[in-house]
Amino acid sequence: MPADRTATHGVATAVAHPNIALCKYWGKRDAALNLPSTPSLSLTLAPFRTETTVVWGAERDRVVFNGVENTGGEGRKIFATLDRFGERPPCEIHTGNDFPTAAGLASSASGFAALVVAANAASGANLSDVELAVLARQGSGSATRSLQGGWVEWAMGERDDGLDSHGVAIAPADHWDVRMLVVLVRSGPKEIGSTEGMNHTMRTSPYYPAWVEHAPKDVVEAREAVLARDLEKLGAITERSALRMHASMIAADPAVMYWKPETMRALEVVRTARKSGIGVWATMDAGPNVKALCSAADAATMAALFAEASLSAQVLHPGGAARVVTTAPWRETAR
Ligand code: PMV
Repeated sequence: MPADRTATHGVATAVAHPNIALCKYWGKRDAALNLPSTPSLSLTLAPFRTETTVVWGAERDRVVFNGVENTGGEGRKIFATLDRFGERPPCEIHTGNDFPTAAGLASSASGFAALVVAANAASGANLSDVELAVLARQGSGSATRSLQGGWVEWAMGERDDGLDSHGVAIAPADHWDVRMLVVLVRSGPKEIGSTEGMNHTMRTSPYYPAWVEHAPKDVVEAREAVLARDLEKLGAITERSALRMHASMIAADPAVMYWKPETMRALEVVRTARKSGIGVWATMDAGPNVKALCSAADAATMAALFAEASLSAQVLHPGGAARVVTTAPWRETAR
């Protein structure tokens, strides 16, 4: 898929929002290509965002993250993604998030989505949306869903090359005005990365096959619920998908346990609110933070209920697709 032509020099800045899966991705059928063992379905969420500038044609390969040069493993994954655009000059990447990184808040999703969109514009590669979604997936699986705004499905696909496994929008951000509250119980990086957690669960959890067996039906039903704007139905699927995913990892040997005491407290707030008649459901990712899905009308009440339990919540709303915000002119050369 590498582009035929790329620029010798170009600069572009792109913005992408994270996404939170309502039906989770947990497990890979192909680890090298990040092909999932299950389909998944997500909502892209603003105002959290990653902003990334790619300088295509710099002195040397370099990543500056939130103003600080990064010399760790993340840089390798970033340059491996740029290498997939084809032959390239050294590149400089300036990237930053306005929300906690690697804390189970999908920063890798918005990060790789912004990266491929900025690199596409800076290099002049002119790849299609599907090609970009496939490249983003190879950087971080869930990133394939942050290319699109609103409600997004990621099919597990059947092909060995993974070209049929990428995020596809099923409804735009303005289709349904729901809210996702993010209850931040820890803002530091997670103890076990998602790839390691998934691989360990696949290898050692006797519940993993049951997770894989039941997940596809949830995605079909969640898609119907989104299209019908049926919050009760979508909420129930959302909560059970997250709890089943965590059940599969808690049953691993040794257990992958992301939960903290505040996690339970936040889940209790959600369950109590629901018993009192509020339509709210919880989800969690590879970290202790809890996210709560509810209607726009109930968001302020939920934030107040979390505050009463000494938990602070940020209210997110459906966000748009990853997009280029600025470009500088580039020179095109045949490779
Ligand atoms: O894309 P990754 O490797 O960061 O994995 C994401 C895994 C979960 O957030 C737990 C679930 C999901 O579907 O986003």
